[in-house]
Amino acid sequence: MNAASAPQAIPIPALREALLTWFDHSGRALPWRAGAEGARDPYRVWVAEILLQQTQVARGLVYYERFLTAFPSVQALAEAPIDAVLKAWEGCGYYARARNLHRAAGVIVAGGMPSTYAGWLALPGVGPYTAAAVSSLAFGEQRAVNDGNVRRVLARLYGERLPTEPWVQARADALLDSGRPGAFNEAVMDLGATICTPKAPRCAVCPLAAWCEARASGQPTAFPAPKVRAAVREVGAVAVLIGNEHSAVLERREGALLGGLMGLPSELREPDETAAQALARLCARLDAVPGTLLGTVSHTMTHRQITLDVYAAQSAHPKTPVQDAALSRLDHKALELLAARRGSLFD
Ligand code: ADE
Repeated sequence: MNAASAPQAIPIPALREALLTWFDHSGRALPWRAGAEGARDPYRVWVAEILLQQTQVARGLVYYERFLTAFPSVQALAEAPIDAVLKAWEGCGYYARARNLHRAAGVIVAGGMPSTYAGWLALPGVGPYTAAAVSSLAFGEQRAVNDGNVRRVLARLYGERLPTEPWVQARADALLDSGRPGAFNEAVMDLGATICTPKAPRCAVCPLAAWCEARASGQPTAFPAPKVRAAVREVGAVAVLIGNEHSAVLERREGALLGGLMGLPSELREPDETAAQALARLCARLDAVPGTLLGTVSHTMTHRQITLDVYAAQSAHPKTPVQDAALSRLDHKALELLAARRGSLFD
């Protein structure tokens, strides 16, 4: 079809049927989709939805299997020490999600598994998206999900460049298939992830193409308009490696950023502070003697880019086995510096 062809007005029952038929043939076989439609294992669906909030499905699958192997049931999760939960979450980022999963597992074991949207929404770490996903996928409740994929698919379908949250929710609610709400939600997610992709939508094979305003405009990727992103703030920090990549002095981090995780002792640099000054401050706190600069690592999170200068240091502080601790990716990168330096001595 060419750019000038106008879409037909949307007959909602036909659209639902086209989307669900496509999903039945082409939907992804994902591990939390095992079981009868509308009666999935809520624990597995919940863990998957929390994981996939900030992680793409391909990567999330690996973390999902690791987490489910460590904690195969909500009882196992509730009974585990928080450090074991953080360790199983290692690499996924946004560790508040793991802490909330653990707290919510305790609530579920004490009070029972919720079976409604409202019951899920009352749990720590569960917002409207997750409550809608779990209640529709695992219990067949009629709740439309509203995430990035849904927003893009609906903005294109209706030719809306600036879709607001309430607009997306209202459209999703109106389209939801009352007989198969969970399948409908997952169909929109899969369509967004595999066909109606952000940069290269495959309109030629889209089951909704006949009704899509964005396709008819000839510029599907212009919908929705890109969001204006908040600037990423650059943060400098110094850390010391006392020990080696197997056994080192570790501290528990505080604050929203990597709070709760273990990491190399570190200090954020004050705005006008040099790395040497921050290192002196850190070593005074630890009663440590600073050594050479091992290297610099950086890591970007949603709103911050951290650049960390990592120094060797000596101190009498007790060392901890690194393998047992839940560390951020930034700390893993810092620990790898030592091995990389050792390797380079032999180059
Ligand atoms: N992304 C978030 N939740 C999902 C799900 N249940 N299926 C596929 N992709 C998803």
